[in-house]
Amino acid sequence: MYKIAVLEGDYSGPEMMEAGLAVLKAATQGTDFQYQTTTYPFGGKGIDQVGDPLPQVTIDGCKAADAVLLSAIGGPKYEGAERTPEAGLLGIREALGLFANLRPTHVTKALGNLSPVKEVAGVDFVIVRELTSGIYFGWPRVEGTSEAHDTATYTAPEVERILRVGFKMAQKRDHHVTIVDKANVLATSRLWRAVTKQVAPDYPDVTVDYSYVDAAAMRIISHPHDFDVIITANLFGDILSDEAAVLPGSLGVIPSASLGISGPNLYEPIHGSAPDLVGQNKVNPLSMINSITWMLRQSFDRDDIADQIDSAVQRVLEAGTMTADLGGVASTTDVTNAIVKELEKEGA
Ligand code: IPM
Ligand code: MN
Repeated sequence: MYKIAVLEGDYSGPEMMEAGLAVLKAATQGTDFQYQTTTYPFGGKGIDQVGDPLPQVTIDGCKAADAVLLSAIGGPKYEGAERTPEAGLLGIREALGLFANLRPTHVTKALGNLSPVKEVAGVDFVIVRELTSGIYFGWPRVEGTSEAHDTATYTAPEVERILRVGFKMAQKRDHHVTIVDKANVLATSRLWRAVTKQVAPDYPDVTVDYSYVDAAAMRIISHPHDFDVIITANLFGDILSDEAAVLPGSLGVIPSASLGISGPNLYEPIHGSAPDLVGQNKVNPLSMINSITWMLRQSFDRDDIADQIDSAVQRVLEAGTMTADLGGVASTTDVTNAIVKELEKEGA
């Protein structure tokens, strides 16, 4: 019996989680995939329930789980809180040692014409974002009114381990990595390049190119087919993954996986908690559903179940059942129920 820790998120987060868990249940019904979910207080819910966005019980529960599912956190109610939901998110990444964050951009046929950028069908790349170091975590950090400091730090071992995640991933894909940095300005970026030159010979079947982040930002829109695996630092990966999300037409479809050194991986949509949509049955459940599919593949080696969910999702999209962010008129539950129905057909 697998243990899945559930952090259900704030604002529209719980609606997405409910949709995702309904799909997981339908997809695993009648299979030998047995699991139990336990919900822990986290983010805004943690602040509301126990006054802490990352309570110890949540850290312990996640560490003891086989995988963690997280829906989007944060929102206006928590802005300016002493410890914000976002601090909780950075904290759980650190506590679970989730140093590698994988964010795919894959434009399927059904979404190919929704993008404001044309000729994107078939675009398929993954951003491998370093998640527990860099300027997000560097020290010293000085919070001042007349002066403030953030520090970007990387050690060679931190760079090496994220590079290896990306190179290995490229070996299973199109055998190309792009290192995105700002080596014309930043010392940390020059370290990334030096470590890449040491690591790359271990992956002779993978070609490497380097791109400054400003140029990469442009290429993602102008030549999105150029990319296979992008490996980059924490802040650059944060920014570029939102940009890349324009290609499939909406942030609302993009999942992510965060991999640790040992212990459970965490799966979450890359976008925020859509406070403007809360309670209206409008939020796109696909980013959460796609996160769950990824969990089935990566943590549980259940490509069989994941493939069924993926093809059910494609059929539903091809039939035009989509939420408003994708130009459709369907509600969260319309999309979810349609996917569940497709899965039930499969099972029957
Ligand atoms: C993300 C988010 C977070 C980040 C925020 C909410 C702290 O933007 O997961 O991309 O910057 O990592
Ligand atoms: Mn982000």
